[in-house]
Amino acid sequence: MTISKETVPITALGNTLLFEPIKVGANTLPQRIAFAPSTRCRATADNIPTDLQLQYYDERSKYPGTLIITEATYLSEQGGLNPHVPGIFNKRQVAGWKKINDAIHANNSFSSIQLWYLGRVANAQHLKNKGLPYIAPSAVYWNEETEAIAEQAGNPLRALTIEEIDHIVDVEFPNAARNSLEAGFDYVEVHSAHGYLLDQFLNTASNKRTDEYGGSIENRARLLLRIIDKLIPIVGAGRLAVRLSPWAKFQNVDTEGEEIHSYILNELQKRADEGNQLAYISLVEPRVQASWDIEEDKQVGSNDFTYKHWKGNFIRAGTYAHELDKIDQDIDNGRTLLAFSRFFLSNPDLIEKLKDGIPLTQYERPTFYTQDNFGYNTWPRNGELISFDEETEKARIGKPLA
Ligand code: PHB
Repeated sequence: MTISKETVPITALGNTLLFEPIKVGANTLPQRIAFAPSTRCRATADNIPTDLQLQYYDERSKYPGTLIITEATYLSEQGGLNPHVPGIFNKRQVAGWKKINDAIHANNSFSSIQLWYLGRVANAQHLKNKGLPYIAPSAVYWNEETEAIAEQAGNPLRALTIEEIDHIVDVEFPNAARNSLEAGFDYVEVHSAHGYLLDQFLNTASNKRTDEYGGSIENRARLLLRIIDKLIPIVGAGRLAVRLSPWAKFQNVDTEGEEIHSYILNELQKRADEGNQLAYISLVEPRVQASWDIEEDKQVGSNDFTYKHWKGNFIRAGTYAHELDKIDQDIDNGRTLLAFSRFFLSNPDLIEKLKDGIPLTQYERPTFYTQDNFGYNTWPRNGELISFDEETEKARIGKPLA
Protein backbone atom coordinates (compact mmCIF):
# COMPACT_ATOMS: atom_id res chain seq x y z
CA MET A 1 0.00 0.00 0.00
CA THR A 2 1.15 3.50 -0.73
CA ILE A 3 -0.13 6.73 0.72
CA SER A 4 -3.09 8.07 -1.23
CA LYS A 5 -2.50 10.73 -3.86
CA GLU A 6 -6.20 10.91 -4.58
CA THR A 7 -7.74 14.27 -3.82
CA VAL A 8 -11.23 15.55 -3.20
CA PRO A 9 -12.05 18.97 -4.66
CA ILE A 10 -13.66 21.48 -2.28
CA THR A 11 -14.87 25.06 -2.35
CA ALA A 12 -13.12 27.75 -0.30
CA LEU A 13 -14.76 28.41 3.07
CA GLY A 14 -12.66 31.37 4.21
CA ASN A 15 -15.63 33.72 3.81
CA THR A 16 -18.14 31.55 5.63
CA LEU A 17 -19.21 31.56 9.26
CA LEU A 18 -16.73 28.75 9.87
CA PHE A 19 -13.99 31.35 9.91
CA GLU A 20 -15.73 33.69 12.35
CA PRO A 21 -14.51 33.66 15.96
CA ILE A 22 -16.46 31.88 18.69
CA LYS A 23 -16.22 31.85 22.46
CA VAL A 24 -15.83 28.38 23.95
CA GLY A 25 -15.85 28.61 27.72
CA ALA A 26 -12.92 30.73 28.79
CA ASN A 27 -11.31 30.96 25.34
CA THR A 28 -12.19 32.68 22.10
CA LEU A 29 -11.32 30.54 19.10
CA PRO A 30 -10.62 32.41 15.84
CA GLN A 31 -12.62 29.88 13.80
CA ARG A 32 -15.19 27.17 14.32
CA ILE A 33 -13.39 24.05 13.18
CA ALA A 34 -12.25 21.38 15.62
CA PHE A 35 -10.35 18.13 15.32
CA ALA A 36 -12.83 15.40 16.29
CA PRO A 37 -11.62 12.74 18.72
CA SER A 38 -10.19 9.80 16.77
CA THR A 39 -8.71 6.56 18.13
CA ARG A 40 -5.46 5.92 16.26
CA CYS A 41 -3.59 3.44 18.51
CA ARG A 42 -0.11 5.03 18.46
CA ALA A 43 0.48 5.05 22.24
CA THR A 44 2.68 2.38 23.82
CA ALA A 45 1.44 -1.08 24.76
CA ASP A 46 1.21 0.20 28.34
CA ASN A 47 -0.88 3.24 27.39
CA ILE A 48 1.79 5.99 27.47
CA PRO A 49 1.64 8.81 24.84
CA THR A 50 4.48 8.63 22.30
CA ASP A 51 6.70 10.78 20.14
CA LEU A 52 4.55 9.81 17.16
CA GLN A 53 1.51 11.36 18.84
CA LEU A 54 3.50 14.47 19.73
CA GLN A 55 4.41 15.04 16.09
CA TYR A 56 0.88 14.24 14.95
CA TYR A 57 -0.89 16.69 17.27
CA ASP A 58 1.78 19.35 16.78
CA GLU A 59 1.28 19.26 13.01
CA ARG A 60 -2.50 19.38 13.29
CA SER A 61 -2.52 22.36 15.65
CA LYS A 62 -0.32 24.68 13.56
CA TYR A 63 -3.26 26.83 12.48
CA PRO A 64 -3.60 29.23 15.43
CA GLY A 65 -6.64 28.66 17.60
CA THR A 66 -7.37 25.12 16.43
CA LEU A 67 -9.31 23.09 18.98
CA ILE A 68 -7.79 19.61 19.11
CA ILE A 69 -9.96 17.05 20.84
CA THR A 70 -7.50 14.27 21.47
CA GLU A 71 -8.33 10.61 21.04
CA ALA A 72 -10.48 8.80 23.59
CA THR A 73 -8.24 8.23 26.63
CA TYR A 74 -8.67 5.74 29.47
CA LEU A 75 -9.43 7.55 32.68
CA SER A 76 -8.56 4.64 34.97
CA GLU A 77 -7.27 1.08 34.62
CA GLN A 78 -10.79 -0.10 35.20
CA GLY A 79 -11.88 2.24 32.39
CA GLY A 80 -9.81 0.40 29.79
CA LEU A 81 -6.49 -1.25 29.16
CA ASN A 82 -6.37 -2.05 25.45
CA PRO A 83 -2.76 -1.64 24.34
CA HIS A 84 -1.75 1.38 22.24
CA VAL A 85 -4.63 3.53 23.49
CA PRO A 86 -3.40 6.30 25.79
CA GLY A 87 -4.43 6.71 29.41
CA ILE A 88 -4.46 9.59 31.90
CA PHE A 89 -4.32 7.58 35.12
CA ASN A 90 -0.59 7.53 35.93
CA LYS A 91 2.33 9.98 36.24
CA ARG A 92 4.06 8.91 33.02
CA GLN A 93 0.89 9.46 31.04
CA VAL A 94 0.44 12.91 32.58
CA ALA A 95 4.05 13.81 31.75
CA GLY A 96 3.62 12.54 28.18
CA TRP A 97 0.41 14.46 27.58
CA LYS A 98 2.06 17.56 29.07
CA LYS A 99 4.62 17.51 26.24
CA ILE A 100 1.86 17.20 23.66
CA ASN A 101 -0.12 20.04 25.23
CA ASP A 102 2.99 22.22 25.39
CA ALA A 103 3.38 21.76 21.63
CA ILE A 104 -0.29 22.53 20.98
CA HIS A 105 -0.07 25.66 23.13
CA ALA A 106 3.18 26.76 21.45
CA ASN A 107 1.06 26.82 18.27
CA ASN A 108 -1.47 29.05 20.08
CA SER A 109 -4.04 26.29 19.81
CA PHE A 110 -6.22 24.48 22.36
CA SER A 111 -6.69 20.90 23.52
CA SER A 112 -9.52 18.88 24.98
CA ILE A 113 -9.13 15.39 26.41
CA GLN A 114 -11.88 12.84 25.91
CA LEU A 115 -12.22 10.70 29.04
CA TRP A 116 -13.12 7.13 28.16
CA TYR A 117 -14.61 4.24 30.13
CA LEU A 118 -15.33 1.06 28.21
CA GLY A 119 -17.58 -0.94 30.56
CA ARG A 120 -18.95 -3.99 28.74
CA VAL A 121 -16.92 -3.37 25.58
CA ALA A 122 -13.64 -3.71 27.52
CA ASN A 123 -11.49 -6.82 27.19
CA ALA A 124 -12.16 -9.11 30.19
CA GLN A 125 -8.71 -10.70 29.90
CA HIS A 126 -6.87 -7.36 30.05
CA LEU A 127 -8.82 -6.49 33.19
CA LYS A 128 -8.21 -9.93 34.69
CA ASN A 129 -4.45 -9.56 34.13
CA LYS A 130 -4.59 -6.55 36.50
CA GLY A 131 -6.92 -8.28 38.96
CA LEU A 132 -9.85 -6.09 37.90
CA PRO A 133 -13.47 -7.14 37.40
CA TYR A 134 -15.32 -6.86 34.09
CA ILE A 135 -18.19 -4.51 34.80
CA ALA A 136 -21.16 -2.75 33.19
CA PRO A 137 -24.54 -1.36 34.27
CA SER A 138 -25.92 -4.90 33.94
CA ALA A 139 -24.54 -8.32 33.03
CA VAL A 140 -25.58 -8.03 29.38
CA TYR A 141 -22.78 -8.90 26.93
CA TRP A 142 -22.68 -6.88 23.76
CA ASN A 143 -21.68 -9.85 21.59
CA GLU A 144 -20.63 -13.49 21.67
CA GLU A 145 -16.98 -12.71 21.20
CA THR A 146 -16.71 -10.63 24.36
CA GLU A 147 -18.67 -13.27 26.24
CA ALA A 148 -16.24 -15.99 25.08
CA ILE A 149 -13.22 -13.88 26.11
CA ALA A 150 -14.78 -13.29 29.54
CA GLU A 151 -15.53 -16.96 30.03
CA GLN A 152 -12.05 -17.98 29.02
CA ALA A 153 -10.54 -15.37 31.31
CA GLY A 154 -12.71 -16.50 34.20
CA ASN A 155 -13.87 -12.88 34.47
CA PRO A 156 -17.58 -12.87 33.64
CA LEU A 157 -19.37 -9.58 33.09
CA ARG A 158 -21.23 -8.36 36.14
CA ALA A 159 -23.30 -5.35 37.18
CA LEU A 160 -21.54 -2.55 39.02
CA THR A 161 -22.35 -2.32 42.72
CA ILE A 162 -23.50 0.98 44.19
CA GLU A 163 -20.12 1.32 45.94
CA GLU A 164 -18.34 0.86 42.62
CA ILE A 165 -20.55 3.48 40.97
CA ASP A 166 -19.70 5.87 43.80
CA HIS A 167 -16.02 5.11 43.23
CA ILE A 168 -16.33 6.01 39.55
CA VAL A 169 -17.97 9.33 40.46
CA ASP A 170 -15.96 10.24 43.53
CA VAL A 171 -12.53 8.86 42.71
CA GLU A 172 -11.94 7.74 39.10
CA PHE A 173 -13.37 10.73 37.20
CA PRO A 174 -11.98 13.35 39.63
CA ASN A 175 -8.49 11.76 39.50
CA ALA A 176 -8.54 11.73 35.73
CA ALA A 177 -9.85 15.31 35.58
CA ARG A 178 -7.12 16.55 37.94
CA ASN A 179 -4.51 14.66 35.93
CA SER A 180 -5.87 16.24 32.74
CA LEU A 181 -5.50 19.73 34.20
CA GLU A 182 -2.00 18.91 35.44
CA ALA A 183 -1.17 17.73 31.91
CA GLY A 184 -2.27 21.12 30.57
CA PHE A 185 -5.50 20.30 28.77
CA ASP A 186 -7.73 23.33 28.17
CA TYR A 187 -10.95 21.27 28.27
CA VAL A 188 -12.08 17.95 29.70
CA GLU A 189 -14.72 16.06 27.71
CA VAL A 190 -16.77 13.27 29.28
CA HIS A 191 -17.45 10.56 26.71
CA SER A 192 -21.09 9.51 27.05
CA ALA A 193 -21.64 8.19 23.53
CA HIS A 194 -21.23 5.22 21.19
CA GLY A 195 -22.11 2.37 23.55
CA TYR A 196 -19.31 2.96 26.07
CA LEU A 197 -19.94 2.83 29.82
CA LEU A 198 -21.92 6.04 30.30
CA ASP A 199 -23.98 5.41 27.17
CA GLN A 200 -24.53 1.84 28.44
CA PHE A 201 -26.24 3.43 31.44
CA LEU A 202 -28.39 5.67 29.22
CA ASN A 203 -29.42 2.81 27.00
CA THR A 204 -32.19 0.29 27.67
CA ALA A 205 -30.41 -2.45 25.68
CA SER A 206 -27.54 -2.48 28.17
CA ASN A 207 -29.10 -1.08 31.34
CA LYS A 208 -31.48 -3.55 33.02
CA ARG A 209 -31.00 -2.19 36.54
CA THR A 210 -33.92 -1.88 38.91
CA ASP A 211 -32.24 0.52 41.35
CA GLU A 212 -31.87 4.31 41.11
CA TYR A 213 -29.57 3.92 38.05
CA GLY A 214 -32.02 1.98 35.87
CA GLY A 215 -35.56 2.15 34.52
CA SER A 216 -36.72 5.75 34.16
CA ILE A 217 -34.90 8.33 32.07
CA GLU A 218 -33.95 10.21 35.24
CA ASN A 219 -32.41 7.06 36.66
CA ARG A 220 -30.50 6.09 33.52
CA ALA A 221 -29.08 9.60 33.21
CA ARG A 222 -28.20 9.80 36.90
CA LEU A 223 -24.61 8.59 36.64
CA LEU A 224 -23.67 11.03 33.85
CA LEU A 225 -25.20 13.97 35.71
CA ARG A 226 -23.54 12.99 38.99
CA ILE A 227 -20.20 12.94 37.18
CA ILE A 228 -20.84 16.38 35.66
CA ASP A 229 -21.82 17.81 39.04
CA LYS A 230 -18.72 16.30 40.61
CA LEU A 231 -16.43 17.70 37.91
CA ILE A 232 -17.84 21.25 37.68
CA PRO A 233 -16.04 22.48 40.83
CA ILE A 234 -12.86 20.57 39.94
CA VAL A 235 -12.47 21.53 36.29
CA GLY A 236 -14.67 24.62 36.09
CA ALA A 237 -17.86 24.44 34.01
CA GLY A 238 -16.28 26.53 31.23
CA ARG A 239 -13.64 23.86 30.70
CA LEU A 240 -15.97 20.88 30.90
CA ALA A 241 -17.75 19.19 27.99
CA VAL A 242 -19.81 16.10 27.15
CA ARG A 243 -20.07 13.92 24.06
CA LEU A 244 -23.42 12.39 23.10
CA SER A 245 -24.54 10.20 20.18
CA PRO A 246 -28.35 10.24 20.30
CA TRP A 247 -28.75 8.12 17.15
CA ALA A 248 -25.85 5.68 17.24
CA LYS A 249 -26.37 1.94 17.61
CA PHE A 250 -22.65 1.25 17.69
CA GLN A 251 -21.75 -1.75 19.88
CA ASN A 252 -25.27 -3.04 20.16
CA VAL A 253 -26.99 -0.27 21.98
CA ASP A 254 -30.40 0.90 20.80
CA THR A 255 -31.07 4.30 19.35
CA GLU A 256 -32.23 6.27 22.38
CA GLY A 257 -32.80 9.41 20.34
CA GLU A 258 -34.64 12.45 21.56
CA GLU A 259 -36.24 11.65 24.86
CA ILE A 260 -33.34 10.90 27.16
CA HIS A 261 -31.01 13.27 25.35
CA SER A 262 -33.53 16.12 25.67
CA TYR A 263 -33.68 15.39 29.39
CA ILE A 264 -29.88 15.46 29.68
CA LEU A 265 -29.62 18.71 27.73
CA ASN A 266 -32.36 20.31 29.84
CA GLU A 267 -30.54 19.26 32.99
CA LEU A 268 -27.28 20.71 31.67
CA GLN A 269 -29.13 23.90 30.75
CA LYS A 270 -30.38 24.13 34.37
CA ARG A 271 -26.76 24.10 35.50
CA ALA A 272 -25.97 26.74 32.88
CA ASP A 273 -28.80 28.93 34.18
CA GLU A 274 -27.20 28.68 37.62
CA GLY A 275 -23.93 30.01 36.21
CA ASN A 276 -22.32 26.70 35.28
CA GLN A 277 -22.49 26.56 31.51
CA LEU A 278 -20.37 23.77 30.06
CA ALA A 279 -17.89 24.72 27.33
CA TYR A 280 -19.62 22.61 24.68
CA ILE A 281 -21.73 19.57 23.93
CA SER A 282 -20.18 17.37 21.26
CA LEU A 283 -22.77 15.64 19.07
CA VAL A 284 -22.31 12.69 16.76
CA GLU A 285 -24.46 13.24 13.67
CA PRO A 286 -26.88 10.44 12.68
CA ARG A 287 -24.88 10.02 9.46
CA VAL A 288 -22.04 8.27 11.31
CA GLN A 289 -21.32 5.85 14.13
CA ALA A 290 -17.75 5.86 15.41
CA SER A 291 -15.71 6.21 12.21
CA TRP A 292 -18.22 4.54 9.90
CA ASP A 293 -20.76 6.19 7.63
CA ILE A 294 -24.35 4.98 7.86
CA GLU A 295 -26.00 4.24 4.52
CA GLU A 296 -28.55 6.90 3.74
CA ASP A 297 -31.57 4.59 3.85
CA LYS A 298 -30.51 3.32 7.29
CA GLN A 299 -30.08 6.74 8.89
CA VAL A 300 -32.54 7.63 11.60
CA GLY A 301 -33.11 10.88 13.44
CA SER A 302 -31.82 14.41 13.39
CA ASN A 303 -29.96 16.45 15.96
CA ASP A 304 -32.12 19.54 15.31
CA PHE A 305 -34.02 18.92 18.58
CA THR A 306 -30.90 19.58 20.64
CA TYR A 307 -30.95 23.34 20.02
CA LYS A 308 -34.30 23.65 21.81
CA HIS A 309 -32.89 22.26 25.02
CA TRP A 310 -29.32 23.53 25.24
CA LYS A 311 -28.47 27.19 24.66
CA GLY A 312 -24.70 26.85 24.71
CA ASN A 313 -22.19 25.61 22.13
CA PHE A 314 -22.40 22.46 20.10
CA ILE A 315 -19.58 20.72 18.30
CA ARG A 316 -21.06 18.55 15.56
CA ALA A 317 -19.17 15.81 13.75
CA GLY A 318 -20.03 13.39 10.98
CA THR A 319 -19.19 13.55 7.26
CA TYR A 320 -19.31 17.33 7.05
CA ALA A 321 -16.40 17.22 4.61
CA HIS A 322 -18.88 15.95 2.02
CA GLU A 323 -21.34 18.78 2.59
CA LEU A 324 -19.12 21.81 2.63
CA ASP A 325 -21.42 23.79 0.35
CA LYS A 326 -24.26 23.88 2.90
CA ILE A 327 -22.24 24.36 6.03
CA ASP A 328 -23.41 27.91 6.74
CA GLN A 329 -26.97 26.59 7.13
CA ASP A 330 -25.88 24.20 9.86
CA ILE A 331 -23.91 26.71 11.85
CA ASP A 332 -25.96 29.86 11.34
CA ASN A 333 -26.70 30.31 15.02
CA GLY A 334 -23.46 31.55 16.49
CA ARG A 335 -23.01 28.51 18.72
CA THR A 336 -21.96 25.64 16.51
CA LEU A 337 -18.52 24.35 15.68
CA LEU A 338 -17.86 21.55 13.22
CA ALA A 339 -15.36 18.81 13.87
CA PHE A 340 -13.49 16.76 11.29
CA SER A 341 -11.68 13.50 11.91
CA ARG A 342 -10.80 11.36 8.92
CA PHE A 343 -9.75 14.23 6.65
CA PHE A 344 -7.77 15.78 9.51
CA LEU A 345 -5.69 12.61 9.58
CA SER A 346 -4.81 12.75 5.88
CA ASN A 347 -4.57 16.57 5.81
CA PRO A 348 -2.48 17.98 8.67
CA ASP A 349 -3.21 21.44 7.23
CA LEU A 350 -6.94 20.77 6.90
CA ILE A 351 -7.96 24.20 8.19
CA GLU A 352 -5.81 26.12 5.69
CA LYS A 353 -7.15 23.90 2.93
CA LEU A 354 -10.77 24.48 3.94
CA LYS A 355 -10.11 28.19 4.11
CA ASP A 356 -8.59 28.43 0.65
CA GLY A 357 -10.46 25.64 -1.13
CA ILE A 358 -7.43 23.45 -1.71
CA PRO A 359 -8.34 19.83 -2.62
CA LEU A 360 -8.23 17.41 0.32
CA THR A 361 -6.06 14.32 0.28
CA GLN A 362 -8.23 11.21 0.53
CA TYR A 363 -7.70 9.24 3.78
CA GLU A 364 -6.94 5.52 3.97
CA ARG A 365 -8.91 3.46 6.45
CA PRO A 366 -6.48 0.47 6.59
CA THR A 367 -3.93 2.59 8.47
CA PHE A 368 -6.37 4.10 10.99
CA TYR A 369 -5.75 1.54 13.73
CA THR A 370 -2.25 0.27 12.98
CA GLN A 371 0.52 0.99 15.49
CA ASP A 372 3.33 2.23 13.25
CA ASN A 373 4.04 5.57 11.64
CA PHE A 374 2.95 4.64 8.13
CA GLY A 375 -0.30 6.45 7.37
CA TYR A 376 0.08 8.52 10.55
CA ASN A 377 2.85 11.11 10.25
CA THR A 378 3.34 10.49 6.54
CA TRP A 379 0.67 12.84 5.16
CA PRO A 380 2.01 15.92 3.36
CA ARG A 381 0.80 19.48 3.77
CA ASN A 382 -0.27 21.33 0.64
CA GLY A 383 2.63 21.63 -1.80
CA GLU A 384 4.95 19.63 0.45
CA LEU A 385 6.76 16.64 -0.89
CA ILE A 386 7.47 14.29 1.92
CA SER A 387 9.66 11.44 1.03
CA PHE A 388 9.75 8.43 3.26
CA ASP A 389 10.51 4.78 3.00
CA GLU A 390 7.38 2.73 3.54
CA GLU A 391 9.16 -0.17 5.23
CA THR A 392 11.04 2.16 7.58
CA GLU A 393 7.82 3.92 8.62
CA LYS A 394 6.05 0.59 9.09
CA ALA A 395 8.86 -0.42 11.44
CA ARG A 396 8.64 2.85 13.38
CA ILE A 397 6.72 2.29 16.60
CA GLY A 398 6.25 5.16 19.02
CA LYS A 399 8.65 5.78 21.87
CA PRO A 400 7.11 6.77 25.20
CA LEU A 401 7.29 10.49 25.92
CA ALA A 402 7.92 9.82 29.60
C1 PHB B 1 -12.96 3.53 18.87
O1 PHB B 1 -11.86 3.51 19.38
O2 PHB B 1 -13.30 2.66 18.05
C2 PHB B 1 -13.92 4.55 19.24
C3 PHB B 1 -13.62 5.43 20.26
C4 PHB B 1 -14.52 6.38 20.61
C5 PHB B 1 -15.72 6.47 19.94
C6 PHB B 1 -16.01 5.61 18.92
C7 PHB B 1 -15.11 4.65 18.57
O3 PHB B 1 -16.62 7.39 20.27
